[in-house]
Amino acid sequence: MVKIELFEVDHWILSQSSDIKHNLAHSYCLPKSLSDVQQQAGSSETGTDVFSPVLSKALDYGPMKGSEALRSKISHLYSSESSSSFSTEKIITTPGASLANFVVLFALVGPGDHVIVQYPTYQQLYAVPASIGADVSLWKSSQEENWKLDMEELEKLIRPNTKMIIINNPQNPTGAIISKQTLEQIVQTARKHSITVFSDEVYRPLFHTVSPVDPEYPPPILSMGYDNTIATSSLSKAYSLAGLRIGWIASHNPKVIDLCVNVRSYALITASQVDEHLASFVLGPPVRQLIEGNQTLTKENLNIVQSFIDKNRSICEWARPEGGPIGFIRFVRSGRPVDDVILCTQLLEKKGLLLVPGRKCFGDGINFSGYVRLGFGGDTEDLIGGLGALQSFLDHDFREIPVYPGAADKY
Ligand SMILES: Cc1ncc(COP(=O)(O)O)c(C=O)c1O
Repeated sequence: MVKIELFEVDHWILSQSSDIKHNLAHSYCLPKSLSDVQQQAGSSETGTDVFSPVLSKALDYGPMKGSEALRSKISHLYSSESSSSFSTEKIITTPGASLANFVVLFALVGPGDHVIVQYPTYQQLYAVPASIGADVSLWKSSQEENWKLDMEELEKLIRPNTKMIIINNPQNPTGAIISKQTLEQIVQTARKHSITVFSDEVYRPLFHTVSPVDPEYPPPILSMGYDNTIATSSLSKAYSLAGLRIGWIASHNPKVIDLCVNVRSYALITASQVDEHLASFVLGPPVRQLIEGNQTLTKENLNIVQSFIDKNRSICEWARPEGGPIGFIRFVRSGRPVDDVILCTQLLEKKGLLLVPGRKCFGDGINFSGYVRLGFGGDTEDLIGGLGALQSFLDHDFREIPVYPGAADKY
């Protein structure tokens, strides 16, 4: 028996063997070295200074919830966006947000539970609860509605055994954000039914349409005054450091933290002391410049992709991303979605451009034919090169891509 379905995005990327000249399948901001981070921050510490505390440290397992120094930096991220301070007791570290999500779901969801998951989203967030035996309802959104969530629909999905509402803000693959008002409504509904809200916030704080001074700026789920909330995040996306493999789980609810610590012990005992030390350095003084740099980069790159879409508007469209370094573009011919898997396969074969096909990688809960996910958080010259290859394909080869059989004009 297959216990868990194939993780399609990773499988797709892994199985593409042709030469990749332009990789726009990623979902992170331009990866950085620790020296880049230091230089960008104008840090006076040298590389040796950053590493020296771990060079002389005896590498035992370290603290069972993660290093105090790192958890204190993470707690500062939350305190700076909330009216009250956020204690380190509410945080545990993990290697990346994927393990954070896994731990939360494994610790809190079981057979007989029902979970509601915002959709489309990262496959892990619905495939893992389903693999544990939970009933999963997808809370669907559409491009026509700018991927906005319908609160009446949420009420209809709630059952007596609904344990958790799972959201992803900003969202993969669309770059849509959940507004403050909608977050408040979600929390209100969850509170009424005693449901936990779990928010994967791995793309925070990359917002393109709102800034922290706007009244509609989406707050972290943990600052919304409801204890049964859980957030996960990591340094992989907005912080450019996927290779550090540092993420975290945060919650006001001590029972949630205890249950997650227990699963964390089974899964990894503790995280790498070296990674935690380096992550703690990054979340110190360098963090502001790092985030500001990535906000500027993604906004500029987003405008470049928008110009490309405007130029080709008879064959492609999107709901412009409001956050994160990714967008979901639909390719159509005579109003009908094309076969996105053939499109992506041929783009790679003929132009060396790697993209992610929507129908294959984001499930069949909605008809995603014609959609591709494009990452625009990388180097601007690489993005321009990739879009040039895409343009050349659209000009010469696109007419050969079949419409996907059975796809409706509009879903
Ligand atoms: C929504 C979402 N959550 C979690 C992850 C996993 O990130 P990490 O590298 O921190 O494990 C990803 C990676 O693409 C993601 O898109």
